[in-house]
Amino acid sequence: MELEALAKVAFAAQGCTERRWGGCLRAAPSAGATYPLQLYIIALNVEGLEAGVYKYRSHAPRLHSLERVASGRHWEDECGFVLLFEERAERTTSVYGERGYMYVREEVGHAAQGAVLEASVLGLSARVRELERPPLGLRAAYCVEVGVRGRRVGERRLGGGALPPPPKPMMSLEEAMLARRSIRRYKPIPLALAELSAVLAWSAAGVVRPYPQLPGGYRVESCVVVREVEGLRAGVYMYDAQGHSLASTLGGDLSRTLARACLGQEWVENAAANIVMYTPAPSAAAEVEAGMMGQCLYLAATSLRLGTVAVGAFYDDEVASILRLRGRPLYVFPLGKP
Ligand SMILES: Cc1cc2nc3c(=O)[nH]c(=O)nc-3n(C[C@H](O)[C@H](O)[C@H](O)COP(=O)(O)O)c2cc1C
Repeated sequence: MELEALAKVAFAAQGCTERRWGGCLRAAPSAGATYPLQLYIIALNVEGLEAGVYKYRSHAPRLHSLERVASGRHWEDECGFVLLFEERAERTTSVYGERGYMYVREEVGHAAQGAVLEASVLGLSARVRELERPPLGLRAAYCVEVGVRGRRVGERRLGGGALPPPPKPMMSLEEAMLARRSIRRYKPIPLALAELSAVLAWSAAGVVRPYPQLPGGYRVESCVVVREVEGLRAGVYMYDAQGHSLASTLGGDLSRTLARACLGQEWVENAAANIVMYTPAPSAAAEVEAGMMGQCLYLAATSLRLGTVAVGAFYDDEVASILRLRGRPLYVFPLGKP
């Protein structure tokens, strides 16, 4: 495996994409920019890099480095390299209390999916795994193995669902990774149905979705709270991922009520639509999966020049009851024209 590939995959997970507020904003979003993840890389078969465990640091846009913390092979399986996400949860829980644990797991999903997508661009296979015994006593629960044999996340054909075919993205995946930012102000104009279709197609659709399955299968479902989408009446629609279609469950514009349940975050009210992820069976794996789907959603929106932001702050019971969800809400993603 080339060192260049390792650099690109690590960058897609946790690279600095913009300097702001005296620090770095990264390729993956972070609740309140608390950045609880420390990325470690286990190099096994990388040209020009001694086998060992390395700490990844990203100092400025496109400037990053590795610091060796241990030599030798610290991994049983055969692959090129492994990304480990050490969870420094106290960075997030000190701000958000117990809810911070969910945020950290969602962030692991975002970072892991960034790596998986970049690996697929490079023609490499990647898989996300839960760890039983992380090496060197690192507090990491999930990893991404790169270079292992496996199915690549690539072009997928969608069944003939009711939604229109998605338009072409306006930028490459790598450009979207660099450009991705949380956007909270939207123009008061409707979304095209094809745009909503594309965001759903590139983040959630399919029997095999755009992100890898964790053991036990997919756990996250989604619905759309429509305010202004051409060709759709305002209301709530359940999304059928396999059929790539929407089914109306509630009528009327619920975006203001939803925004109130999201602690009054006005971008939820002003968005043309909100995509809400939920799980019928709450678990840590479902939270990681929501992060993986969320990273795809951010990149899909960016590549269509739409704006979105991951919203994790809401009253679970209120969101579930407003939308009549059969499960626990995990994320709200407002969507609109920036
Ligand atoms: C788990 C999680 C929860 C978040 N919750 C909110 C939220 O409730 N409201 C909000 O405006 N932004 C929220 N964000 C977005 C972050 O504030 C944003 O990612 C961070 O400021 C970094 O900016 P960037 O996404 O542009 O890189 C959340 C992000 C994550 C990953």
